[in-house]
Amino acid sequence: MNPPTGAARQHTDTGTSAPVRLEGRDKVTGTARYAAEYAPDGRVYAWPIPATIARGKIVAIDCAIALAEPGALAVLTHENAPRLGETGDRTLAVLQTPQIAHRGQYIALAVAETLEAARATAAAVRVEYAPERHQVLPGPDHPDSYVLEEADDEAPEGWQRGDVEGAYAAAEIRIDAVYRIPALHNHPMEPHAATAHWADGQLVVHDSSQGAGWVRQTLSELFAMDRERITVVSEHVGGGFGSKGTTRPHAVLAAMAARHVGHPVTLALPRNQLAAVVGYRAATEQRLRIGAAADGRISALAHEAVSYHSTIGDFVEQAAKPARSMYASPHSRTSHRVGPLDVPPPSWMRAPGECSGMFALESAMDELAVACGLDPIELRIRNEPDRDPASGLPFSSRHLVECLREGARRFGWTPGPRRPGSRTDGRLLIGTGVAASTYPADIEPSEAEAHADASGNIRILLNATDIGTGARTILAQIAAEALDVPLDQVRIEIGSSDLPYAPIAGGSTGAASWGWAVHKAAAALAAQLADHNGPLSEAGLRVSVNTEDDVAARSAEYVRRSFGAQFAEVQVDRDTGETRLRRLLGVFAAGRILNARTARSQFVGAMTMGASMALLEHSTMDPAFGDHPERDLASYHVAVSADVPDIQAYWIEEEDPHLNPLGVKGIGEIGIVGTAAAVANAVYDATGVRVRTLPVRVESLL
Ligand code: MOS
Repeated sequence: MNPPTGAARQHTDTGTSAPVRLEGRDKVTGTARYAAEYAPDGRVYAWPIPATIARGKIVAIDCAIALAEPGALAVLTHENAPRLGETGDRTLAVLQTPQIAHRGQYIALAVAETLEAARATAAAVRVEYAPERHQVLPGPDHPDSYVLEEADDEAPEGWQRGDVEGAYAAAEIRIDAVYRIPALHNHPMEPHAATAHWADGQLVVHDSSQGAGWVRQTLSELFAMDRERITVVSEHVGGGFGSKGTTRPHAVLAAMAARHVGHPVTLALPRNQLAAVVGYRAATEQRLRIGAAADGRISALAHEAVSYHSTIGDFVEQAAKPARSMYASPHSRTSHRVGPLDVPPPSWMRAPGECSGMFALESAMDELAVACGLDPIELRIRNEPDRDPASGLPFSSRHLVECLREGARRFGWTPGPRRPGSRTDGRLLIGTGVAASTYPADIEPSEAEAHADASGNIRILLNATDIGTGARTILAQIAAEALDVPLDQVRIEIGSSDLPYAPIAGGSTGAASWGWAVHKAAAALAAQLADHNGPLSEAGLRVSVNTEDDVAARSAEYVRRSFGAQFAEVQVDRDTGETRLRRLLGVFAAGRILNARTARSQFVGAMTMGASMALLEHSTMDPAFGDHPERDLASYHVAVSADVPDIQAYWIEEEDPHLNPLGVKGIGEIGIVGTAAAVANAVYDATGVRVRTLPVRVESLL
């Protein structure tokens, strides 16, 4: 049944022997500096001013009182800000027009000698608006008729194979359900911040970003400058989840302000502004229809997602895409319908597409298991495809069934159909649930340099970004292994656009993309060192590589994805309806795992975020206010340690020869995929109530 190429064996390493983070000491001693902590001489502060209407235009801005504040240096508005060049990203055209596209959009920037003065200056700016009627929720009950457009980047009319309507109508068992996920917001530990400094025609920006190269490229377009005249540094970054994957307005504003006032400027966003300007996971409404035979074999699978984008961005949450590759089905269809709203621009949030889509699909699979009277693991095994159903190509490796079986063993899964309400502990109802995970194993070309000095020390240079994942550490490990030297002989330099080009820390591509380049550079250096006779000169040896051709030469005959299985145990208070997570266990098959310690941390972190999505996180859209009112961590709840008492992550040692020389797939995102479904499925098992709208709340169970 389960065909794939590639070997797999069970993982047992507890990870305690794996190298610890190279920058760990710097971080815990406070020596590691983040973007707002760079303080060039004469550094001053900026504070942004967000729009307080959701649509309309600015009629007047009065800065006179503001500029009289002690320490005030300037107020930038659309009237005096420099004109910016065009980029593909309209959210970066800051202070260019009086038009307001969404509430919270930046309309002005106060600059002053101290942070407090900047804030006071911002508070004293008087803005007069001409508001227009806004529309921030989709649906026919809203003033303007709302047309949803098909917006599927690969197939404008939606994607279809076979006759899904016919097969669904003819199916013995039919599931037809709608799943809803609210808007979810990125809240990295370190809010977005930049320190910008102009000197001698050069612009230096320390930015909290997932990719300094991307930021440099954007700034060069906006300020019409050669890239060589711009340096962007992202040395330490306190999380991003996609919200720092693209250039954000704060970096542009900091650079603008620094040029305007002739001082270095730090702009550190207050957390209560993030929700409007750094992207978020758009709310989705997803209809799943599954037709199957009584034995659970799927004959028709339709996944239709409805969402929205902003009027200044066309990002589409590709929630239905994973349904194309998960299960064998002769008749299948996916579609994404979206239209523009006057909302803050949605964007990437950890596992965009998959995270939303797999909640719906894996909940629907659980419903199908109930309808067929089958164990949900057995149902998934019966529908395991022998090739990628979307493309017809083989998977480079696919060990979903192994993950399900290994997870069941470790978790202590009771086989058989779910029996809601059958397990109790006093007044608590106990339930267990399972869901599958998947995420693409993509790769981007990268450059890297490897240097050896006369005393045998190695330096590895590339513009990778460590957003808290352990990227530095694994890259050093890769180099040390290729050169066969101890880890402490390798120095790794990342996080600056002056270093050799490397793609962003996004899409779970970092380890594979940067790692390949580092491996190639280190291996080439090792070969040179082996050929070299006698001691090295003062200058040492140096190798530069680029993996563009290597990446392009990979076979197009395989589909490369990671898979996993998530298991949850919940307790639901019979009287109050309060749901708490008892246990979460994941088993993943994601190629070779480079560092057990940092990998476990990635999986556990993502699973925590998934549990948080299941039980706590949600933003609401207030139609009158025109925005999400949850602005801080007191109103937008994220899971804390007490919410996740027992999380375990394991993996299968997967050997896949079709990926890259390292056999790495990337693990940044798969850990959040399917978690929420596993939790909701466990809630069903506990209570018999199917929660199709996240998060699971007391009201959901009444
Ligand atoms: Mo991630 S959403 O690819 O940074």
